[in-house]
Amino acid sequence: MTPPTESTAQSTDRVALAFSGGLDTTVCVPLLKEEYGFDEVIGVTVDVGQPAAEFAEAEETATALGLEHHVVDAREAFAATCFDSVRANATYQGYPLGTALARPVIAQAILDVALAQDCAALAHGCTGKGNDQLRFETVWRSSDLDVIAPVRELGLTREFEQEYAAERDLPVEGGDGGAWSIDTNLWSRSVEGSELEEPSYVPPEDIYDWTQPPGNESELLDIEFEDGYPVALNGEEFEPIALIEHLNEVAGAHGVGRTDVMEDRMLGLKVRENYEHPAATVLLNAHEALESLVLTKEERSFKKQIDHEWAEKAYEGLLAAPLVDALEGFIASTQERVTGTVTVKLEGGQARPVGRESEYGVYSASAASFNTADVGGGIEQADATGVAKYHGFQSRLAGSVIAAANEPTAPVADGGTTAETENGATADDGDE
Ligand code: ARG
Repeated sequence: MTPPTESTAQSTDRVALAFSGGLDTTVCVPLLKEEYGFDEVIGVTVDVGQPAAEFAEAEETATALGLEHHVVDAREAFAATCFDSVRANATYQGYPLGTALARPVIAQAILDVALAQDCAALAHGCTGKGNDQLRFETVWRSSDLDVIAPVRELGLTREFEQEYAAERDLPVEGGDGGAWSIDTNLWSRSVEGSELEEPSYVPPEDIYDWTQPPGNESELLDIEFEDGYPVALNGEEFEPIALIEHLNEVAGAHGVGRTDVMEDRMLGLKVRENYEHPAATVLLNAHEALESLVLTKEERSFKKQIDHEWAEKAYEGLLAAPLVDALEGFIASTQERVTGTVTVKLEGGQARPVGRESEYGVYSASAASFNTADVGGGIEQADATGVAKYHGFQSRLAGSVIAAANEPTAPVADGGTTAETENGATADDGDE
């Protein structure tokens, strides 16, 4: 194995490695020294809400490797990004973007440690096939540090890594994560790999950890929003991290938030992905229900395009792009009115909005009611008569023109005369 020639790292340098204690990143530690010539490797594990067992595993492996290990708590910054994604109703092909939203937060935290520790380079254990290499590197390449991806650059396979680890007696017992490749944070838990790679394979119940099989019980939740941000649950205020954790429990018990998708990765590969995301589903559904009450029809329809762009950039790990600032300008101006409460029913794997209220509702019960004669604002029902006469005028006109053109009538000598159609529209009437 030879390192790629473009690596400019010095042999006396320190390198900061995104470290999980799994097989890929464990194998990277000796490789960075032996193949890339670094004197010292610093492992950085960033907390974005993974289960405690993952930190224990990282710590244990780091100790066994004699690796200087830093753990950074970035849960607050990550939860804030998740809540921004709620304001943008953000999903990508049905997936609420947990991994995608977490990567830039993790990358930034590692870069901060690398700079503070005088590192010359940054390294990750991603392969050359996935999205995460791109999300990490777009953050890292904004610095002057070298970026190194041993698994990708040396073309390593899982089999090679296992042999390499066995030869060197590296501490990877249990570090392989079992049959599935799992990525967990506050916002979602993703499961991929092994038999799940086959699109026709029906996932067994044991791939799920956050969600129960949907049952017959039901439960109502009141979710309160301020400026589009979730702030309270059933009348009790919650900080973002606590709200997400709590909703993952409560909604997970009803089987809410399971997604099985064929996902189009950035590099063009299609992969089969399974996700669990109970809190995200509840908050996204509730938020959209509140927007449906307080935003006008045009705002709702235009915001769909804005939201779509936001989600695409989030998937690409490019939320720092200037476009996103502009999109968020629009989003912020709409969210000033997204304040109110939504009642969500958790039942049978669904989180269905069943009630909504807001002082900003663009809704007048008396105007829309069947029980009042007038609309209000000086408008009477009878005023709709003229609107009804015009409504569909152009379609009727087009219909009669098409019918007349298709009619097998005798040829007209002088170019034809005007014929009044059945619908009252005249085929060659001008509009003035
Ligand atoms: N495909 C998802 C994404 O790119 C998540 C991948 C998570 N990784 C895993 N090992 N399960 O955002």
